[in-house]
Amino acid sequence: MQNNLIHGVWRNHSMNWSLVGSPLRPTEEDQRIMMMLSIPALSHSMEHTDVVVLGVTPELVHLSWPCNTRVQAFDHSADMIASVWYPNSRNSSFVQQVSWQNMPLSDNSVDLVIGDGCFTVLPSADACRVVLAESARVLKRTGLLVLRCFIRPERSETLENVFAALHAGMIGSFDALKWRVAMAITPDEELSVAVTDIYAAFEMLFPDRDQLAKCTGWSRTAIDTIGAYKGMAARYTFPTMSELRKLASPFVDVFDIRQGHYELAERCPIFCFKPVDCKS
Ligand SMILES: C[S@@+](CC[C@H](N)C(=O)[O-])C[C@H]1O[C@@H](n2cnc3c(N)ncnc32)[C@H](O)[C@@H]1O
Repeated sequence: MQNNLIHGVWRNHSMNWSLVGSPLRPTEEDQRIMMMLSIPALSHSMEHTDVVVLGVTPELVHLSWPCNTRVQAFDHSADMIASVWYPNSRNSSFVQQVSWQNMPLSDNSVDLVIGDGCFTVLPSADACRVVLAESARVLKRTGLLVLRCFIRPERSETLENVFAALHAGMIGSFDALKWRVAMAITPDEELSVAVTDIYAAFEMLFPDRDQLAKCTGWSRTAIDTIGAYKGMAARYTFPTMSELRKLASPFVDVFDIRQGHYELAERCPIFCFKPVDCKS
């Protein structure tokens, strides 16, 4: 039952996929940065280069990978695979319904692990640690882990701030509003938040969706995607920059951090990590 509810959020998300935009999905600028950060990991093998995509994010599966790249995508949701995955037409690519916590790969076998917003969709800091350890295990010593991460500010803003920013015309999209509400209610000591609480906070702040649509110009269809969170058992995790560095440090070293220029980009940095003990 619990598992069904957790997967339910992805069933709902898969139905809304075409309505989801930046910052939840990577922009073209994010894609360019992620490819630029990945390149050093793609030049070591004379034969195949193996890339693992965490999830089925089309913007990553369909990057312009070098021609000898094999792309394998791992996602635990059959619904997301069925509605969002399609193979890369230039590279060998396939998908498996697999949990990132337990990847069906040998140690030191992959050149690059790449993902978008992966920590956020994990339920806790512990789950993030497991995925970091698993990514470090499967990466070759020359490999890299490139992740765009949704980062809570070191000092959280309040829901009142979010409400005021909205009414001052300073929030440009429904997805940016959703992430600001989610980060504002994430308890400092926990790092994670129940998606039902994001829904409840949204309902409390904006009980009249027609009014929200009128004052922002956003479509009701986009606003109603918040319904995907109603009654769901899933939790989302939003570490701060310093919490994420601490979570990662036993498994990977931070090699580089970049960010784009879109709304909320400062909360969506792209990390390039190296497995620990690989300082070259
Ligand atoms: C890559 S993440 C982020 C997507 C996007 N940035 C967003 O928030 O809308 C979303 C995907 O991760 C998958 N997912 C979440 N947790 C997972 C896990 N532990 N193992 C495998 N797939 C997982 C979900 O099924 C979903 O397809």
